[in-house]
Amino acid sequence: MRKPLIAGNWKMFKTTAEAKDFAAEFKKIYVSSDIQVAVCAPFTQLEALKEAFQDTDIQVGAQNLHFAEEGAFTGEISAAMLKEIGVDCCIIGHSERRQLFGETDEMVNKKLHQAFASGIRPILCVGESLEQRDGGQAFDLVRSQMKAGMQGLHADQAAALIVAYEPVWAIGTGRTAEPEQADEMCGFIRQVVEDLYGEEAADKVLILYGGSVKPSNASELLNMGDIDGALVGGASLVPEDFIQIVNF
Ligand code: G3H
Repeated sequence: MRKPLIAGNWKMFKTTAEAKDFAAEFKKIYVSSDIQVAVCAPFTQLEALKEAFQDTDIQVGAQNLHFAEEGAFTGEISAAMLKEIGVDCCIIGHSERRQLFGETDEMVNKKLHQAFASGIRPILCVGESLEQRDGGQAFDLVRSQMKAGMQGLHADQAAALIVAYEPVWAIGTGRTAEPEQADEMCGFIRQVVEDLYGEEAADKVLILYGGSVKPSNASELLNMGDIDGALVGGASLVPEDFIQIVNF
């Protein structure tokens, strides 16, 4: 049985003081349940959040890591550095990183390997642009992102993976995928995992939907059969909004 995960992606928002305020407010309204919750914050907020959430089961995630163990990579952060402060998970290959920072499937694949090697659970993001959706290429594109991203992973790693399907046209636009449309792609992603790694891995892999998830649409999306949770951007910044999604 897959345990749903609601993960917030703060992107480049909140100072450490604001992150501490969020944690204090969120803890007042959060009740532990059989839903997993994670907050993926900017690097400088991670340690403060680990401390603030230490008496809870709320996980703390990063939004990126470098694929090398260490080296002359000015401005980058290694998986070991994240692990040292207790980071639980890490978003990898978000469309903003692919589009704005030139991340390729090959880099995404190396980052997944580094995350697993370091004991950090990766959240692999995949998803098509509007042009690709309108051109009928969405499924081929997502299959190829999945295959390239997961290249060389073992079946137990595939089973432990978190995939986030985020259609680029639904991110930060207020335009959410229809629940059936999102579920269809999440089911397709599960099928790709089954084709590559077999039924057991496909049954275990967590598949999230992301793209304008908010309190008003969360329950419809999250009650679909192949959607195991959500990767939430804007609505994860406000404790009162995020908790409503967590309590879908
Ligand atoms: O990682 C989160 C996604 O990019 C979704 O962002 O909920 O603000 O549309 P959004």
